[in-house]
Amino acid sequence: MLEFEIRHKDLMGRIGKLQTPHGTVETPTIMPVINPNLVSLKAADMKQYGAEMLITNAYIIYRKADLREEAIKKGIHSLLRCEMPIMTDSGSYQLYEYKDVEVSNSEILEFQQRIGSDICVPLDIPTPPYAKRERAENDLEMTLRRMQEARGIIQNNLLAGVVQGSTFLDLRAESAKRVAELGFDVYAIGGVVPLLASYTFDKLVDIIVASKRNLPLNAPVHLFGAGHPMIFPLAVAVGCDLFDSAAYALYAKGKRYITSDGTRKVEDLQYLPCACPVCSSYSVKEVQEDTDLLAAHNLWVTFEEMRIVKQSIVERNLWELCERRCRAYPALLNGLKQMAKYSALIEKYDPATKHPFFYLGESSAYRPEVLRYSNKLDRFTLSGNVLITTNLEEKELTEQEQFDHVFFVKPPFGPYPAELSESYPVGQAEIPIEVDNEARTVALQNVLKLLELNRNRNRNVKFVFRYNSSWEDHPLIEEMRKYAEVRVMESN
Ligand code: GUN
Ligand code: ZN
Repeated sequence: MLEFEIRHKDLMGRIGKLQTPHGTVETPTIMPVINPNLVSLKAADMKQYGAEMLITNAYIIYRKADLREEAIKKGIHSLLRCEMPIMTDSGSYQLYEYKDVEVSNSEILEFQQRIGSDICVPLDIPTPPYAKRERAENDLEMTLRRMQEARGIIQNNLLAGVVQGSTFLDLRAESAKRVAELGFDVYAIGGVVPLLASYTFDKLVDIIVASKRNLPLNAPVHLFGAGHPMIFPLAVAVGCDLFDSAAYALYAKGKRYITSDGTRKVEDLQYLPCACPVCSSYSVKEVQEDTDLLAAHNLWVTFEEMRIVKQSIVERNLWELCERRCRAYPALLNGLKQMAKYSALIEKYDPATKHPFFYLGESSAYRPEVLRYSNKLDRFTLSGNVLITTNLEEKELTEQEQFDHVFFVKPPFGPYPAELSESYPVGQAEIPIEVDNEARTVALQNVLKLLELNRNRNRNVKFVFRYNSSWEDHPLIEEMRKYAEVRVMESN
């Protein structure tokens, strides 16, 4: 049973192929939300933007007699006039927002099955962020019972298992483990809409990671309610494969113009900073006055950003894309810094070879490649006289002096032997002339690690550490004196 095949990987992100009854979908992808009340030709139009799958709400169809009849008679694809794969949500979100859902888990699942949904969703219970522990636990138990029931009902369609647990990371982990044990085709992380709305991206990263690390790798993970493109690079980097967007339409209704790094009030625009078919054929005034044009622009940039994310997975520079995008907004920077805290975990998923490392700011110091390099410092077994220098120009100088080993220090990696000066990652890393303190700190920590490792192995090894005066006030320089003769070099 090969339903989800992974083609490319970077960080915890991947490009995969998901087989559905209506064809194969390439992930990561975004499913536009189709409101069944507003269908005209909308669903069929979605292909042109790059949509490969849609999502709609089975509960909204179910509670309206005419829609329900038509869906039962002709199927969901005919109702939406579209042959693309369609995921159906259960009404959980309505339950959460309006608390008036009058349908049982089994009823809505049987309905989804009957109308030929490609991916069905049970009636999970979204617990809001920062809920009381007891409530989160009770909701979770109920959600898990419904997941188990769903597993017994759905036979031929794909079925999503939903992870809840509010902002309790241990509950998220337990939730993920237990749905994984039940076994689903797709896993979905729910209950995060309020965090998205409040831009609490650090907590969002925590929740995704706590869930993802306990879910099977050979199934796609959907992040419910994440439709703004500014979150795609980060969410994909920590392992999300599927997204749904009502945002394109909701933002248009609110007269908001989406960009890959935020949102603008369309009335504030004097220019259209975009080259999509809408922005290149209409005037600012026309886009301001026509909600459909604005929604179309919003969709174009949404799919454009997903293609950018996918290309960066292929090129294996998704971290760099995250760094660039997360500079757009302080709340995104919180998310990026949170991801950096999971570097050791991400390193386990991350492929070992990449394109040259570009240092783009403090967060680059915590990249998985840097951690991996540090983890391998024990392969350097040193003896005799060893020079470690921050001056990459010292090559000629050392020929006159007698050293058994020469190491250069390159932030943020730290020490590398002269022989590796052309090798990936450290030799090929591109760093700015003036590096920041984080990069120096990580580099010096790695120098200290190399010194300690070798001093413990061999008492007779002698270290000389030379550094440029620009490193002078770094507190770790003092530490170096424990192991090495330390000398400063005047820069010229
Ligand atoms: N849509 C947005 N959030 C959720 C959620 O937590 N569960 C479901 N089923 N749908 C959602
Ligand atoms: Zn545009």
